[in-house]
Amino acid sequence: MTELERHSYDVVVIGAGGSGLRAAIAAHDSGARTAVICKSLLGKAHTVMAEGGIAAAMGNVYEEDNWKVHFRDTMRGGKLLNHWRMAELHAREAPERVWELEQWGALFDRTPDGLISQRDFGGHRYARLAHVGDRTGLEMIRTLQQRAVSLGIDVFMECTVTNLLKDGDRIAGAFGYWRESGRFVVFETPAIVLATGGIGKSWKVTSNSWEYTGDGHALALRAGATLLNMEFVQFHPTGMVWPPSVRGLLVTESVRGDGGVLRNSEGRRFMFDYIPEFFKAETADTEEEADRWYTDKRNNRRPPELLPRDEVARAINAEIKAGRGSPHGGVYLDIATRRTADYIQKRLPSMYHQFLELAQVDITKEPMEIGPTCHYVMGGVEVDPDTAMSTLTGLYAAGEVAGGMHGANRLGGNSLSDLLVFGRRAGEYAARYATGLGAGRPVVSDAEIDASAAEALAPFAIDGGENPYTVHQELQAVMQDLVGIIRNEGELESALEKIAALRDRIKAVTVEGHRQYNPGWHLALDLRNMLLVSESVARAAMERKESRGGHTRDDYPMTDYDFWGKINLIVELDSSGAVGIRHQPLPEPPPELAALLEEQH
Ligand code: FUM
Repeated sequence: MTELERHSYDVVVIGAGGSGLRAAIAAHDSGARTAVICKSLLGKAHTVMAEGGIAAAMGNVYEEDNWKVHFRDTMRGGKLLNHWRMAELHAREAPERVWELEQWGALFDRTPDGLISQRDFGGHRYARLAHVGDRTGLEMIRTLQQRAVSLGIDVFMECTVTNLLKDGDRIAGAFGYWRESGRFVVFETPAIVLATGGIGKSWKVTSNSWEYTGDGHALALRAGATLLNMEFVQFHPTGMVWPPSVRGLLVTESVRGDGGVLRNSEGRRFMFDYIPEFFKAETADTEEEADRWYTDKRNNRRPPELLPRDEVARAINAEIKAGRGSPHGGVYLDIATRRTADYIQKRLPSMYHQFLELAQVDITKEPMEIGPTCHYVMGGVEVDPDTAMSTLTGLYAAGEVAGGMHGANRLGGNSLSDLLVFGRRAGEYAARYATGLGAGRPVVSDAEIDASAAEALAPFAIDGGENPYTVHQELQAVMQDLVGIIRNEGELESALEKIAALRDRIKAVTVEGHRQYNPGWHLALDLRNMLLVSESVARAAMERKESRGGHTRDDYPMTDYDFWGKINLIVELDSSGAVGIRHQPLPEPPPELAALLEEQH
């Protein structure tokens, strides 16, 4: 194959968001020859869309905060389906990762005492999100990128990996193409860190950017690794609903963390109607009284708008269904009547500009129209909590593509801290593995390269077949309508039938033109991943017969702690490539951590 370009590294990181860059820095610092590959341009990863902050129990605003409280909040937020060890490592190590980021040049907002400021978010007992206005992800990427570049780490931009290559049952490399030229490239490496993010582009309304086509999930699955709990998909309560061109775009939870409230078309602050029984105010006759009661943080009370995301998203959904929605099918998010214009512009500069420029709404004067948007997948590659290695030797995963950390529902702000904690671990352990191999490095086979090339070129060989854009739109409609916030058996069955038909149809997808920058071809290749991952989500959702976090079944509305509360669902492919689901016991926390979960506060 004359066109083939080859590179050789100890560790290759796929994805240049927060976890990818942090992994690359750790791998490099551990002595590995390291490269980062990204589909997009460096600095444009989806992490830049993360707005609110990095959750870390630094105790700068509430000194009583500590890792144990953060661990408990995370486990409770995840409805106890998190891998306890991941939640423990995350809570213990997050503060160090934030301070390290500051040493590398991140400019966080400060408290009046000059400490890193920490803001309130849903499900966190204390204000603990270190932030940079509402542009925290951008600052994180700027800092990590500068660090990675200054260390001399090689970066391959606008390069898409289509297959992982193996030598026996070990990782041996990755096969991909340059998006600009369409030429193929092979990376020979014994260790790959997947840091590819999420899967939201399979839904119609999503906060996710174009890269989020589930590449890492699908690459892992096809290479023989397993996925965990793919049924849990988070719908962020607040995405833009108008105008249509920006439907789904994130409206940060910081708006609610900083005092914003939700109202329906009658002007009612409806979240008071959805508060769980145990958390109801004893006496509160007026909205003002209730407000005072619910914002007493020291007594473990928080406004109902800051209940975990799954609960707020379901409440909004219910209001809209009951006919109390806004003109464009959302509800209202009001900070204008709650905070001064100065405060809003200082704390939420991006939101201010986003609404002014995209929707001609001045959020210091008017409410925003918002609705749920597909935001995050809690399910992902099954990894060892300490090393981040998957069930396939040499394959590591960190950040959104990895499963287990967030259980059934992720708390806001726990994503950026997850990227840093597990990005570092993945990079370090991948480097240790790769540099320890000595002469026993795996070898890439020509047969695998040829097969990968033939597979990638297949869409050019078909005349008059399916248009990839049509298939994508149909998939998005299926996932939005049948595998959304509320699910049931009939709809999931129908989704699985439709996905099977689409999987058949993409075998005959046609691509016009040539290999030079050809978005239709790129989409045709991404569709394989989206369909495989969508089927995994739908199958797991069909299997879990209960409601928990980001998986609500209206035919099984209860959370079942005795059976399903102890089960992880593992997704794997059989030898024919069919998606299978099996049950695996959820690891139990040791007694000292289990005791923390029992405590009342
Ligand atoms: O609402 C937000 O700013 C999103 C943060 C997150 O998903 O962690």
